[in-house]
Amino acid sequence: MGLKIEELKSGNFDLNRPVILYEDEGHRVAWVGSSENFIFRCNAYLVSSGNTNVLIDPGGIQHFEQVKERVSQLINPKEVNYIVSHHQDPDVAGSIPKWLEVNPEITIVTTPRTKVLLPYYGFDRNSAKWLDVSPLDDTMLELKDGSVLLFLSSPFLHFPDAFVTYDSRAKLLFSGDIFAAIQQKWELIVSDWERHKTEMMYFHVYYMASNRALRYFVEKIKPFPIKAIVPQHGSIIPEEHVKDALDFLENLKCGVDLLYEESPVQSILSDLF
Ligand SMILES: [Fe+2]
Ligand SMILES: [Fe+2]
Repeated sequence: MGLKIEELKSGNFDLNRPVILYEDEGHRVAWVGSSENFIFRCNAYLVSSGNTNVLIDPGGIQHFEQVKERVSQLINPKEVNYIVSHHQDPDVAGSIPKWLEVNPEITIVTTPRTKVLLPYYGFDRNSAKWLDVSPLDDTMLELKDGSVLLFLSSPFLHFPDAFVTYDSRAKLLFSGDIFAAIQQKWELIVSDWERHKTEMMYFHVYYMASNRALRYFVEKIKPFPIKAIVPQHGSIIPEEHVKDALDFLENLKCGVDLLYEESPVQSILSDLF
């Protein structure tokens, strides 16, 4: 019962199946994808409580079948009734029209500027159900077990109206592209923190807007007890590295900061390829 991150460090699980990250009597969190041999690998997650099933960042259109297959090993896919889309990128949200075919009653949880863009993947904005995430950080989804999913804005990281999700029961931070990593060798849980910092740097220097935006966000999430950071790309950051991860982002120069300094592009490319 409870958080499974420690036991998952062994790597002893089948990636063709959902991987349970947290479970108690009334609340379960699972990794449901994706398995892909690519440095920009995408993670989708399913939070279940009672008859509420929340799919977080379901993934691109080509991820749909494998994510649905893993979801179907836990619940009937028609029972997915919420999708959280932390921003509108195709690797996050391209499969939403497919999920709406499975269950047209799904409520899409997202911010107003993301809501403008998502229907361009090919669904009707007026017949879709929406839960609007406020920039005031007061939007939440109350779950049957008495816990909440709290939606916190993360402006300019990397989309201007991006947000993240905090699970108050599992104490997991679903961070979207923030804390993401580009990895030649993916693993579910970070095992080598020094290497992981470099892999996070590869991602953040280009995708994230500025150190100012990172600092604003880190200050906001610092008061929350966080047992693990679960990003949309790369490995899950376990509790012992959460503070290191916050410190790392708080001090990272990225995005427009680098317009005024020597760009690290050459060293990054030579590291990667
Ligand atoms: Fe993105
Ligand atoms: Fe992404």
